Amino acid sequence: MSPHQSGILPENNRFAIWLEAVAQDDLNRIRQGVKTFHHQLTQLQARYPDAALGATIAFGNALWRDLQPGDSAPELKDFQPLGKNMAPATQRDLLVHIQSLRHDVNFTLAQAALAAFGPAVRIEEETHGFRWTEDRDLSGFVDGTENPKGEMRQQVAIIANGADAGGSYVFTQRWEHNLSQLQRLPVAKQEQIIGRTRLSNEELEGDARPATSHVSRVDLKENGQGLKILRQSLPYGTASGTNGLYFIAYCATLYNIEQQLLSMFGERDGKYDAMLRFTKPVSGAWWFAPSLETLLAL
Ligand code: HEM
Ligand code: MG
Repeated sequence: MSPHQSGILPENNRFAIWLEAVAQDDLNRIRQGVKTFHHQLTQLQARYPDAALGATIAFGNALWRDLQPGDSAPELKDFQPLGKNMAPATQRDLLVHIQSLRHDVNFTLAQAALAAFGPAVRIEEETHGFRWTEDRDLSGFVDGTENPKGEMRQQVAIIANGADAGGSYVFTQRWEHNLSQLQRLPVAKQEQIIGRTRLSNEELEGDARPATSHVSRVDLKENGQGLKILRQSLPYGTASGTNGLYFIAYCATLYNIEQQLLSMFGERDGKYDAMLRFTKPVSGAWWFAPSLETLLAL
């Protein structure tokens, strides 16, 4: 199988940087930038092996169709707002996802990305993520427990066959938390919002778990099969100012992520995710991360 990009599957990363950019109509510079970026990535991986550095370059629908005419990534499209704009759309052209055990190495690679793409892109968002204590989201709940592990990660996230083999669909959505609003609620209420207990991180059973809880919204089955996705989200932000979760998911099919979103934003059964009581998405975009081979041949 064609090799996938190194930023998709890593487990237990500690830091991430996300760059979201708009293309400025210089396709050749973007093609060249991809190659230069990959060269810098390989050099940093060799220089700092302890960092376990990985990165993904992914493209929005419009830029991908320009770079790769034909029928690649048939599910890829522009993200459209959901739930009466409670989930806004901020579709851009280029996503760079850098992750590793070291923020300093990530930062170096982010600088290399800016130099590689130069004026061919305009950066519209840069987010620095960090793993918080005990793998918890800033809400205080452990995040990532039911994420696929080991070999399942590749099965869930990477396209196995066909022209897009080695590729992956990506969804990003930055959420801003209102933590004081959350903390005003009793812990039992917070647990009903998430669908798991806070301290001990156990799933609420049966009637104890409301249909609007986050876990109930996204733990979906179709014909007995779980609609699995691979999450690489991390907390971001400042203690005194804006903070929250930068949500990112990878999947071999865009469909699974989309069904979860439709379910969270009232578009499946009219019910909304109870998390919206304390947090809100402020961005949203679909992307396609081609295999390494396809990426370097653009
Ligand atoms: C599970 C937090 C957004 C998909 C969870 C869990 C937490 C959590 C605490 C339970 C532990 C775990 O299994 O990881 C959050 C927060 C979000 C957010 C704070 C944004 C503010 C999303 C979005 C999606 C999503 C946008 C999908 C598009 C999932 C899935 C699970 C999960 C698939 C596993 C459910 C299961 O199988 O039990 N999330 N999440 N999450 N979340 Fe989220
Ligand atoms: Mg489950």
